[in-house]
Amino acid sequence: MKIRAAVVEEQGAPFTIEELELGELRPDEVLVEVAASGICHTDLICRDQWLSVPLPAVRGHEGAGVFSAVGSAVTTIAPGDRVAMSYDACGRCEPCSRGLRAYCVSFWEHNFASTRPADGSSVLSRNGMPMHAHFFAQSSFATHAVGRESTVVKVPDEVPLEIAAPFGCGIQTGAGSVLNVFRPQAGSSIAVFGAGAVGLAAVLAARVAGCTEIVAVDVRANRLELARELGATSVVDASAHDPVRAVRKLTGGGATFSLEASGSPDALRAAVDCLGNTGVCGVVGAPAVGTEVSLDVNTILVGGRVVRGIIEGESIPAHFLPRLFSFWQDGRFPVERMMTFYDFDQIDQAAHDAESGAVIKPVLRMS
Ligand SMILES: NC(=O)c1ccc[n+]([C@@H]2O[C@H](COP(=O)([O-])OP(=O)(O)OC[C@H]3O[C@@H](n4cnc5c(N)ncnc54)[C@H](O)[C@@H]3O)[C@@H](O)[C@H]2O)c1
Ligand SMILES: [Zn+2]
Ligand SMILES: [Zn+2]
Repeated sequence: MKIRAAVVEEQGAPFTIEELELGELRPDEVLVEVAASGICHTDLICRDQWLSVPLPAVRGHEGAGVFSAVGSAVTTIAPGDRVAMSYDACGRCEPCSRGLRAYCVSFWEHNFASTRPADGSSVLSRNGMPMHAHFFAQSSFATHAVGRESTVVKVPDEVPLEIAAPFGCGIQTGAGSVLNVFRPQAGSSIAVFGAGAVGLAAVLAARVAGCTEIVAVDVRANRLELARELGATSVVDASAHDPVRAVRKLTGGGATFSLEASGSPDALRAAVDCLGNTGVCGVVGAPAVGTEVSLDVNTILVGGRVVRGIIEGESIPAHFLPRLFSFWQDGRFPVERMMTFYDFDQIDQAAHDAESGAVIKPVLRMS
């Protein structure tokens, strides 16, 4: 069948919407009519080749929609079901078998390689030539996306699909870093560096978890204002104040947790230095491959501090997304406050507005 999809031809090129051919589904695959897709920073750094993923390709990995067809081996879902799509993993390697799918040893093949992990083929083609797709088991910048039974999660009827879409990456990354990895005791303190979609989701989750000092750090006043409205108890403008001193003061000597969600090496250094003894810094922001940061070894050593990477909030989407949807239904996760909606044809404008900082989480409406 023919579909419409946004293709990136080469490094830094704009998204161009084209007609592509979608081939036969495999037995374990599902066809989703995409209602909406968030744009994540990772889509843009792949377009720009900070990560050298194959091109030309269809990206997009925060899709939600409705099943229009399922492969012959799919048993748990049926056409007509409303779903959000999320990342893929092999399900068999050592981390996967311990429930740590986000650290699958074949994460690249399943999410970035942009072909089917089993045989390197693609469901999409252009003029008879294969087109890279299957990005995070979806390539959701399209009217239709092919996922797998294990990568889709049902969305409750009360949750609009255009709000559900970014839960599959940005929202679960910030929220899961707090709720799945840090698991703060009520009364803990946390500093979140970067008040984009990921950082703001972490602020919301810190509130749900009962953190009592939640400090948001950013360099943009409007984002700090929203962070405060979403539950940050204090905000620090890192362009005007030393964030380390400010966070240490606000948290009575140093934060229990910090999350680096900006991708800035300076922010990572500050996120480590603002911790109290035995504090934990989670790293989710993704700078270009090869970016280095220096740390004072004694900061880590003497206070027993921890610095660790976190992928996708260590979420198992089948379990975690329903919890987040219930927080949304309770009014505790008003993530639509950070979203701006665009028609699919405006994808380049949406990407530009995200990069300029004019909007926080652009969400494309496909129909
Ligand atoms: N680890 C993962 O699994 C994962 C998943 C999704 C996104 N990411 C990454 O997380 C990061 C955040 O994503 P996002 O969508 O929220 O991006 P975003 O660009 O919307 O947010 C980043 C924020 O950081 C702020 N910032 C820039 N420099 C800063 C500094 N020195 N100090 C404090 N704040 C600063 C920006 O003003 C912006 O508000 C990106 O690097 C993205 O690629 C990682
Ligand atoms: Zn695996
Ligand atoms: Zn993402």
